[in-house]
Amino acid sequence: MSYRVAIFGSAGQLGAELSNEFTVRGCKLLRLTRQEVDITDGAKVEKLLTCFSPDVVINSAAYNMVDVAEQEPLAAYEVNGLAVRHMAASCRQLDARLVHFSTDYVFDGASARPYTESDPTHPLGAYAVSKLAGELYAQAYLDNPLIIRTSGVFGPAGLNTARGNFIELMLRLAASPNPIRVVEDHVASPTYAPALAARTADLVFGKHSGLFHIGGGTPISWYDYARKIFDLAGRKPALRATNEREYRTSARRPKYSALSNAKMESLGIQPMPSLDGAIREYLAAREKLAVSA
Ligand SMILES: NC(=O)c1ccc[n+]([C@@H]2O[C@H](COP(=O)([O-])OP(=O)(O)OC[C@H]3O[C@@H](n4cnc5c(N)ncnc54)[C@H](OP(=O)(O)O)[C@@H]3O)[C@@H](O)[C@H]2O)c1
Repeated sequence: MSYRVAIFGSAGQLGAELSNEFTVRGCKLLRLTRQEVDITDGAKVEKLLTCFSPDVVINSAAYNMVDVAEQEPLAAYEVNGLAVRHMAASCRQLDARLVHFSTDYVFDGASARPYTESDPTHPLGAYAVSKLAGELYAQAYLDNPLIIRTSGVFGPAGLNTARGNFIELMLRLAASPNPIRVVEDHVASPTYAPALAARTADLVFGKHSGLFHIGGGTPISWYDYARKIFDLAGRKPALRATNEREYRTSARRPKYSALSNAKMESLGIQPMPSLDGAIREYLAAREKLAVSA
């Protein structure tokens, strides 16, 4: 089965991998970057989708600046909330399926085990509220959207995006002689974008809908994650553990936001790769990109 697939945010870390994955699986793609359309322009989104007539619309575009969102909550809400409403309304008109990505930050972090899809949400800041609003709009306007919550995304495209990712930040900081401070009291499940894209395609081709968690599968503190990155990259910078009391940020973040992939795996979809394997693959891919640049 070959689908016509429109992808918003196709220059982002995940969007780039979704574009590769759906192309390899024989789909006809409409790749949309911010240059082609700002997703807050509902009329343009609708026009582009009407012209292309997609079977599937994938939204991996997002306002991801968690701390800046505390100063400009409306900007975050327009991209992560209202734009999803426009997209969902267009999908309804066109009878297209919507695949939308959300975040582990919809939770408050009070859990002591990976969050499942049936756990209650309680966002802690403007970014998190805006992402939850996007989920609700997709569910309000469509009977069967596919909503995938993920966590700490890293993909080779992050080498060239303005926002990058945690691995790029760590490698950049390692180039300076200053000690690197990373929190040890916050735990997430870092997620490799190519693996997430492949499982997203499995869900789409399997005609699944509803809410799914796809995180990296390994709950890990940001400090331990940083240490793992440096070990695997063969770097030895001065790395210091800190905590949220010492390292204040504008936005509150959940202390624990690892996601359980059990629902996805119960469908027979392959578990996510190990974190070590994913970081190794990432480092090899970024090396290749850097050499070819
Ligand atoms: N990255 C993470 O750690 C993380 C964690 C949990 C959930 N998620 C979710 O996973 C999904 C994919 O994230 P990602 O890591 O691929 O993010 P990313 O690399 O930052 O990509 C997001 C893309 O969206 C584009 N975009 C932002 N605002 C836009 C607008 N108004 N109109 C059109 N395009 C716009 C960005 O363009 P510009 O570069 O020009 O801004 C960028 O290309 C998002 O839904 C995100 O919320 C990500």
